[in-house]
Amino acid sequence: MSLIKRIPIDKVELGMYVSDQTPGMAENGLRTQGYIRRFETVDKLRATGLKELYIDVHRGIDSAFTLPTATHAIGEPRVKLGKERERAEKVYDEAKGLVTELMNNVKLGKAIDIGPVESLADDINNSVLNNPNALLCLASIREKDQYLLEHSINVGILMGILSQYLGYEQELVHQMVTGALLHDIGKIRVPYNILNKPGKLSPEEWTEMKRHVVYGQEVLLQSEGINEVALSICGMHHERLDGSGYPMGLKDYEINNYGRLAAIVDVYDAITASRVYHKGKPPAEAMGFLQEICGFHLDTDLVRHFIRCMSVYPVGTLVELDNGKLGVVISIKSENPDSPIVRCFYNARHRHHEKPADIDLSSKLIETKIIATENPEDYDFNINDFL
Ligand SMILES: [Fe+2]
Repeated sequence: MSLIKRIPIDKVELGMYVSDQTPGMAENGLRTQGYIRRFETVDKLRATGLKELYIDVHRGIDSAFTLPTATHAIGEPRVKLGKERERAEKVYDEAKGLVTELMNNVKLGKAIDIGPVESLADDINNSVLNNPNALLCLASIREKDQYLLEHSINVGILMGILSQYLGYEQELVHQMVTGALLHDIGKIRVPYNILNKPGKLSPEEWTEMKRHVVYGQEVLLQSEGINEVALSICGMHHERLDGSGYPMGLKDYEINNYGRLAAIVDVYDAITASRVYHKGKPPAEAMGFLQEICGFHLDTDLVRHFIRCMSVYPVGTLVELDNGKLGVVISIKSENPDSPIVRCFYNARHRHHEKPADIDLSSKLIETKIIATENPEDYDFNINDFL
């Protein structure tokens, strides 16, 4: 059995097993497959000019910089949305209770009891495997004044969906979701008046705010059973490819894939949330913003994967159909991104509400199409009521 992943050539290490799927090996006078046992081989590989290497992680060592070679589009879910929704609501409610308790304990200086967080990560992953749209709908519903709590859970959910899509092994998916749930735990040690200040932070306050990463790492390191993946996610989620991030100012490949993925889902959830001092961006607009900061802040390839995985009309997007109806996207299929299931509830031509009705735009019987995305702020209804 083999599991092939690709890595940037400058991340080659002793102990990796080169797969014969790597293009260009024979042309460069190298063995087409086998273990890397000598430093000279590492140097030779780097001197070839190849950009990537395919490695078999079932035969040799893995790397935090590997990317799976195949993605798994969100297709036909295992469980219908209505049914999974009930379970997902329980998971989300339990998550709120658990993360609140966790934050209270950390505030009191206690270490993290990782067992319940890992169970929550499993529950999230099972729900994502059954039907990711159920938790995506819940993640789109925001309560005021619960930002840190909801953000921690949502980043866990988004990480579960993205890492499953990227084809990571289940054990790694589990570790990544656990880390994502804990990524901002250090914020609980930032003084309340800074964390919740309704306005611009002073330079001193901003310095303190940025310390949440180091506080988080300290909490994780004093807790038992925290894995390296979770430490990377917590420690690197504010690092940026051009070195402008914090706390270390890491650059390029100093930031591993766990940190890069965490940065993407963290930014996406943060900018789609409405806070005291700014309105959240609609999901489709947030995707546009992620593309704008690709390359210098975020990893371009991974952002593309995220957009494909979440689709061009992510769950929670308000859309206008060509029949004049407005509705919110409640279910996506990443292999059919233009045709989600839309819960229609408003007739824009006649300006009145209608009984909510779900329309599957991918159905052969439906000829209606999306013609625009809309900003809920422009209307006097709350799309949370329809999610
Ligand atoms: Fe953070």
